[in-house]
Amino acid sequence: MEQYIADHAKVVENSLRAGMPEQWNIPGVLRESIQYSLMAGGKRLRPILVLAAAEALGAETSAALPVASAIEMIHTYSLIHDDLPAMDNDDYRRGRLTNHKVFGEGMAILAGDALITHAFYAVVQAARTAEVDPVQVLSIVEELAQYAGAPGMVGGQAADILGEQGLTKLEELEFIHLRKTSDLIVFSLRSGARIAGATDEQLEALTEFGTCIGLAFQIQDDILDLTGDETKLGKPVRSDEKLAKVTYPYFIGIEASMQRVDELTQQGKSALTNSDIPYTNRLLQLADYLMKRDH
Ligand code: IPE
Ligand code: IPE
Ligand code: MG
Ligand code: MG
Ligand code: MG
Repeated sequence: MEQYIADHAKVVENSLRAGMPEQWNIPGVLRESIQYSLMAGGKRLRPILVLAAAEALGAETSAALPVASAIEMIHTYSLIHDDLPAMDNDDYRRGRLTNHKVFGEGMAILAGDALITHAFYAVVQAARTAEVDPVQVLSIVEELAQYAGAPGMVGGQAADILGEQGLTKLEELEFIHLRKTSDLIVFSLRSGARIAGATDEQLEALTEFGTCIGLAFQIQDDILDLTGDETKLGKPVRSDEKLAKVTYPYFIGIEASMQRVDELTQQGKSALTNSDIPYTNRLLQLADYLMKRDH
């Protein structure tokens, strides 16, 4: 599994590197700021899920690469903005100073803006250069706008900010986690599957899988914020505490949160095993792998 992840991450990174045209006539510092965050490493989980979902339905990995790159651009932009002083105000990300610490807030905001817009360009390249059915690409563009936008991740981030004024119910926190984190993971799985021409039932099964492992992923992120090792995480611990964020461990404790991660992982896996998706092995292994992560 580790080899699979390393190999796929490498393919994604090569595609990301090639995806920002050298010939763009743009301010050098904007290019540097974009590259600084995009090429800083990171687990590349979301693009790997795009590739793994496409493979699970028998598509070629290469056909899924433009969309895999696109979701990593969206995710990276969300991290740059998440770290800004007006949001979580963090100084480290992916093992280096946050984008605004190096390039200033204005350039960090603009690097994020450039990544959002270029992500949509990258998705379209699936039809132009990777021979994905344009009708599927249309649906992928539509879903990217929804899962990443106000009804999805952006809405979740807004609710996260508002939640700093005090959440009282676990359901409110679950809503935030589902929007800010599960939605990009669900998009990754659905778009990979669409590239392989998935049926509605198969998309539904992957949506359930992604919802569960996405929620588990964010609960773990909350746990690691308390128990993790900064050098492994590449970002500060106790960031949530600093902002008095209400998290899963805050509500139900660390033990019960770990239990919930386990339950959600099993629930997600059974959605896949009960589906007619032919090659689910890698996705199931990824779910188990994520459950044991320490960064
Ligand atoms: C961090 O995502 C933000 C969350 C949604 C928890 P990752 O943990 O996937 O961050 P990278 O991409 O590996 O840096
Ligand atoms: C961020 O959640 C989710 C995003 C959409 C970026 P966090 O604020 O908990 O992510 P980290 O801990 O800074 O990576
Ligand atoms: Mg945040
Ligand atoms: Mg944060
Ligand atoms: Mg966090």
